[in-house]
Amino acid sequence: MNVLLIGSGGREHALAWKIAQSPLLASLYAAPGNPGIGEHAELVPLDAADHDAVVHFCREKAIDLVVVGPEAPLVDGLADSLSAAGIAVFGPSATAARLEGSKGFTKDLCSRHDIPTARYKRFSEVAAARAHLDESGYPMVIKADGLAAGKGVTIAQSRAEAMAAIDSCFDGAFGGPGAEIVIEEFLEGEEASLFCLCDGSRALVFGTAQDHKRAFDRDRGPNTGGMGAYSPALAMSERLVERTMREIIEPTLKGMAEIGAPFQGVLYAGLMLTETGPKLIEYNVRFGDPETQVLMMRLESDPLPVFLAAAKGDLSGIEPTWSRDRALTVVMAAEGYPGSYAKGTEIVHLPKDDATTRIFHAGTSRDGDRLVAAGGRVLNVTARGASVREAASRAYAAVEQVVWDDGFFRSDIGHRAIMVEDA
Ligand code: AMP
Ligand code: GLY
Repeated sequence: MNVLLIGSGGREHALAWKIAQSPLLASLYAAPGNPGIGEHAELVPLDAADHDAVVHFCREKAIDLVVVGPEAPLVDGLADSLSAAGIAVFGPSATAARLEGSKGFTKDLCSRHDIPTARYKRFSEVAAARAHLDESGYPMVIKADGLAAGKGVTIAQSRAEAMAAIDSCFDGAFGGPGAEIVIEEFLEGEEASLFCLCDGSRALVFGTAQDHKRAFDRDRGPNTGGMGAYSPALAMSERLVERTMREIIEPTLKGMAEIGAPFQGVLYAGLMLTETGPKLIEYNVRFGDPETQVLMMRLESDPLPVFLAAAKGDLSGIEPTWSRDRALTVVMAAEGYPGSYAKGTEIVHLPKDDATTRIFHAGTSRDGDRLVAAGGRVLNVTARGASVREAASRAYAAVEQVVWDDGFFRSDIGHRAIMVEDA
């Protein structure tokens, strides 16, 4: 098979590394990729927003499957353009990608199908949103409706914070004219992520993970795209996974099919495990980053037949197998992230990958023969082991060997799981 992978982060490096091991693979291309991905794929300077160029490339190289990493090209309809050209694509259509592209759309779907989620209201005008503040208690959650690269959510502890968040949404920080917001109830509990492969009507569990969203140790500091993760998520027992499938994922797939937007690809449910059961915080229509890095370390099956089956709309008979190992990844980010940070600082040394430990490139580039930082999240130092503790000690040992002056990382990834293991 000839495969084109779209994206340039740590998630795509982990996918490229895994896909490159498939005996079915003939050629792997990545657009635009990064230096780590370049060890497994031929990098091509294609712009995912230029659908004609992507289709043209796929025809020229006889691509059998396109795997789309990030959400933006999906919300933008890249899968539709590829499907219309008869090219198999792992990733949902634009109408199905609204599950991530519009929080209001997803909340309304949940409400129609009794899917457990935070109580909410949608607003398209500042005055009405402000007036709503008088009726609710704190903390309260304010979300910009559209894609906001992880920055559109505010957990307001006071009326003043809520006002500021509403104003920033309507002032154009996340969309400008025609902006919409969702104001919702604050949910308490432990967070976990569930990944499902979907073929339009069926959903297949494809692993669980727990992300660490805050920038600093002990869950302090600003929200980020994720500073580390481990898999499987300790809190997601088999019973909880089954309940989530029944109460959240299956009704979602049914609801999407009913409105003519069947979901194909990977559906990532961000869950809050509350006292009354799992509730949906949000959907993403693609793999998590950095959760994919830990999933790929544990996946034993060849991913290509699995992704292709989802793309072709028939997952029957597909049963991915997983290592019993735990996996854990530590994100090394540029000082200042998720705020402003320097680019171009040199990564002087990376330890060699081995059977249990490997470094995925998240935001790197080449400057001559130097490897330099080129993003906020730069490296994903990832390891597996018989326990979360073992995976963590391997990952942190590798972190210690990285020579890069500008990086910072959390030193407590997986700490809650390790406490439970030790208890
Ligand atoms: P999202 O971008 O929707 O994943 O939200 C980012 C983070 O905000 C989530 O990972 C949660 O930690 C938090 N969050 C979002 N919605 C809620 C909610 N209703 N209650 C509590 N925390 C939330
Ligand atoms: N790690 C969170 C995300 O991929 O959205």
